[in-house]
Amino acid sequence: MSMSDEQMSDDPGMERSRELLRRHQEHTTRRPRTFTALRKEWDVFPGVFSPEFTPVTAMFTAWLPYPPGGSFLEVGCGTGVTAVWAALRGCRRVVAVDINRAAVENTRANARRHGVADRLTAVHSDLFAALPPDAAFDVVFWNSNYVEPPAGFPLDTMLHHAFFDPGYAAHQRFLAEAPTRLTPGGRLLLGFSDVGNHEHLRELCDTYGLTLSTLRSEVRELHTTVEFQLLELTPARRRR
Ligand SMILES: C[S@@+](CC[C@H](N)C(=O)[O-])C[C@H]1O[C@@H](n2cnc3c(N)ncnc32)[C@H](O)[C@@H]1O
Repeated sequence: MSMSDEQMSDDPGMERSRELLRRHQEHTTRRPRTFTALRKEWDVFPGVFSPEFTPVTAMFTAWLPYPPGGSFLEVGCGTGVTAVWAALRGCRRVVAVDINRAAVENTRANARRHGVADRLTAVHSDLFAALPPDAAFDVVFWNSNYVEPPAGFPLDTMLHHAFFDPGYAAHQRFLAEAPTRLTPGGRLLLGFSDVGNHEHLRELCDTYGLTLSTLRSEVRELHTTVEFQLLELTPARRRR
């Protein structure tokens, strides 16, 4: 049986995500517009997850490591703020992927706006699917759709993919494949929060031999109180 988001039980994560989704949908038919984050102006296209409604993008972008001269993969790039920032902060090769075609176009527009289109490639891809099989990166990062409705929850629009991962099917694929996309010594990072399903995430990490640690976190009072968490997932072979 499929269920709509209105039929979902009222846990704080679902409630906050529905509210954010509503705010996005109010804007979705409007023309591209701009917002300010990290003291820069950015384009946001209709139907793309927008950092103007949440502090999370700017927060993770400010916290992430950017290896100078290194390579950086942003999974689920949205407007491309993090990917562009990686290029501005000295990464030599940045790849940004998103399952939402509008997000890919949006990222390209922001790469041009900030003069980094020569070293940032945006690709329409379901996680790693459209990347060359041997493409590997010094940092792989996803500010993920960490709210987990049950399997069968309908992802009616591309925007739903920005918030919800039914049964953590996408997280499972991400955790299975991401370690193979790291260069030796590369780092795997996940933008998450306390409204994500930590128990399920831990189970998946155990399955794929990953150790979970919190690099940094911060509590914000929003629609509800939310703790945003930047997590590091370390493959077993690298544990000391
Ligand atoms: C929480 S939003 C973050 C967007 C952007 N990184 C930011 O911080 O503003 C999650 C992003 O992941 C993308 N996404 C969800 N599932 C995906 C998948 N299977 N493959 C690629 N991107 C995906 C969504 O379209 C969305 O842009």
